[in-house]
Amino acid sequence: MNSLQGKKILLAMSGGIAAFKVAELARSLIQEGAEVQVAMSEAATHFMTPVTMQALTGKPVYVSQWDARIPNNMAHIELSRQADVILIAPASADLMAKISLGLADDLISTICLAKECPLIVVPAMNKQMWDNPATQRNVAQLDKDGVTVLGPTSGSQACGENGMGRMLEAHQILEGVISFFQEKVLKGKKVLITAGPTYEAIDPVRGITNKSSGKMGFALAQAALEAGAEVHLIAGPCHLNTPLEFTGKIQRTNVTSAKEMHSAVMSDLTADVFFSVAAVADWHVKNASAQKIKKEVAGSNTPTLEFELNPDILASVAESAAKNKKPYCVGFAAETNDLERHAQEKRIKKNIPMLVANIGPDTFGLDENELLVIEESSSQRFEKADKLHLSRQLIRLISKKI
Ligand code: CTP
Repeated sequence: MNSLQGKKILLAMSGGIAAFKVAELARSLIQEGAEVQVAMSEAATHFMTPVTMQALTGKPVYVSQWDARIPNNMAHIELSRQADVILIAPASADLMAKISLGLADDLISTICLAKECPLIVVPAMNKQMWDNPATQRNVAQLDKDGVTVLGPTSGSQACGENGMGRMLEAHQILEGVISFFQEKVLKGKKVLITAGPTYEAIDPVRGITNKSSGKMGFALAQAALEAGAEVHLIAGPCHLNTPLEFTGKIQRTNVTSAKEMHSAVMSDLTADVFFSVAAVADWHVKNASAQKIKKEVAGSNTPTLEFELNPDILASVAESAAKNKKPYCVGFAAETNDLERHAQEKRIKKNIPMLVANIGPDTFGLDENELLVIEESSSQRFEKADKLHLSRQLIRLISKKI
């Protein structure tokens, strides 16, 4: 998707076995359109060679502040001025300590002291080193100084131990960097999202559901978090991981039925924006059985299901929004015919300012979509793109409404 097109990233590596993941990271940053310049500490060269990183990035790698290839011999100034962001991966406990104190006794720490651009650090170390109060103090200081800290995560470590301190995987770091560059248009705002299908039980082993995969709602949760919002994602049964899970920042509530989804939503109405993306079942089975319905007991009679209307979650939130002036409600619709007319009627019926309709007969489960965004006196098309890209467009549009 070239989400990092034109971005200049100074990828600084300190010593640690996790350095092997950085080869993959450099490649994926470049694939997303970034220009990557690598700097390595002397210790890092024991884990990865500068030749490897040079071959992957197509640029000479800098290891020393005395590198004579820089004309004015000020590698720390030259390298930091050229970057849109400095990304330290792996960031050792020692390097984080130096940066938090403002020490500058090698190339990377000097670059960090001389920098004008933002800094992202990706810690990697043994669990005792991570848990050490000194490291925790240093991380807290970096956070206070406006440094973005990605990870670490918990898991098996090269030393054979298991715990916190493991560096994130290359794809997670990439996601973190892409998020970092998104405009923080929803900073300070709270976003509530329903996603996925609901499941209405017939008996303890059977039920009625629909084809919703949850992908659009989850993509919106990611885009909202990237835009700086506080996000609560209420998900029906689906098998998707929480977006940007390693950040631990998306609050996720799993529900099963429409009634459960309704009460989860109604108990959190403090949001500024509500995206009602879930494909909520309109009815539940009134005579659901507490035990599995046996074929023998039913005999030749086919069981008859009686249906009862479910609460309309979006309409309930819209009713509250009419009194409290928030949240700004966005509905979603998948129609099979007369898209614009049905969508506009639905928007009016639900009393909401915006309704987003899927263009195309069946986009369930696909990664791409095409949207028609309908408001009171206008409609606009979002051309076919992956759901995360469309979500970012929607988030930008919403940020102008609230
Ligand atoms: N919706 C909801 N609660 C329901 C039914 C729908 O919150 N019980 C929300 C959906 O999340 C979506 C919007 O209402 O944002 C439109 O859903 P849709 O199923 O298309 O609308 P319905 O009102 O159920 O109309 P119909 O199924 O008759 O087209």
